[in-house]
Amino acid sequence: MSPTDDEHSYSHQPVLLEETLDWLRPASGGTFVDCTLGLGGHAEAMLKASPETRVIGFDQDLKALAMARERLEKFTDRFQAVHTNFKNLSAALNQLGITQVQGVLADLGVSSLQFDNPERGFSFAADAPLDMRMDQTQGETAADFVNHLSEAELADLIFEYGEERGARKIAKRIVRDRQQQPIETTKQLADLVIRALNVPGRWRIHPATRTFQAFRIAVNDELKVLESFIPAAISALASGGRLAIIAFHSLEDRLVKRAFQRDAGQCFCESKRRVTRPVSDKKLRTAMKYDTVDEALILTTRDAVICASCGARLRIRPLTRKPVRPSDLEIAHNFRSRSALLRVCERI
Ligand SMILES: C[S@@+](CC[C@H](N)C(=O)[O-])C[C@H]1O[C@@H](n2cnc3c(N)ncnc32)[C@H](O)[C@@H]1O
Repeated sequence: MSPTDDEHSYSHQPVLLEETLDWLRPASGGTFVDCTLGLGGHAEAMLKASPETRVIGFDQDLKALAMARERLEKFTDRFQAVHTNFKNLSAALNQLGITQVQGVLADLGVSSLQFDNPERGFSFAADAPLDMRMDQTQGETAADFVNHLSEAELADLIFEYGEERGARKIAKRIVRDRQQQPIETTKQLADLVIRALNVPGRWRIHPATRTFQAFRIAVNDELKVLESFIPAAISALASGGRLAIIAFHSLEDRLVKRAFQRDAGQCFCESKRRVTRPVSDKKLRTAMKYDTVDEALILTTRDAVICASCGARLRIRPLTRKPVRPSDLEIAHNFRSRSALLRVCERI
């Protein structure tokens, strides 16, 4: 598929670009995976950093992939684009015969290509079919969710993924309105939220922002995908390799923080075992002999599981204690960068 002229008019400024390059160090060469290729901004900068750098780019959006392929055509021998969800990272790398990489990047969320294209249904700025799928080749649309979930399921979804306090009111209104006619468009949903929350007039942030975020997360199963992706990405890293994740809201960032803590040896179970350096098999066996609290101690030195109940193990070192945020200058140039939160860890 090749991009149309219309699609060329979309642009996406890569967020926290300098910071990402500083942390991932593509200038040192090696193989890097950009799990969220989008329009290829981060990937291009990584490829330019060194002629010894190879980038594998994933995206689940065929249009983004086509545009990134065209942009990065000149790097053909060092760049490969794959249409896949990054939850399939291990399988996709296996297929390419890659066992270990020096860096992995995930710049989460939607790109401007998706958000600014009214036909994709991510935004309430224009009236469009309520789609919100990043991968339009499969899965249920936001309209399917809105029209088929029960009132309780809708309320839970909007509350959990949108952190919307008015979730119950919105769910109730959806169920009432859809009895008259199906809710098929972004405008129908946005107007309905305004009525449900009883907030007519002008707002600094559109009242439907949180509800739209909730449906987008649900449609693309974003949090579950992220949760399964992080351990797989860490497994793919060579010793000293780095994983950088740019999150855009607190639900994502919390999940990244916790996943890093768990793989940095912090156990969240009652036993609260905390191991600060890799343990040899011999030491582990000795520990197991005397440890009656935690039966779940295990295995090899490199991927030693400390607690099987919560999956804690010691195989990374978080490099960013707090998330890195964009500078005021970057926010002034690219308003969408304002909520970006970058966390980086290094494989031991
Ligand atoms: C914020 S954009 C990335 C922009 C990119 N870094 C750039 O510089 O142009 C996010 C991209 O990741 C893709 N994406 C989001 N979640 C994904 C997933 N689970 N698997 C594969 N691609 C995903 C989206 O389709 C979108 O194109």
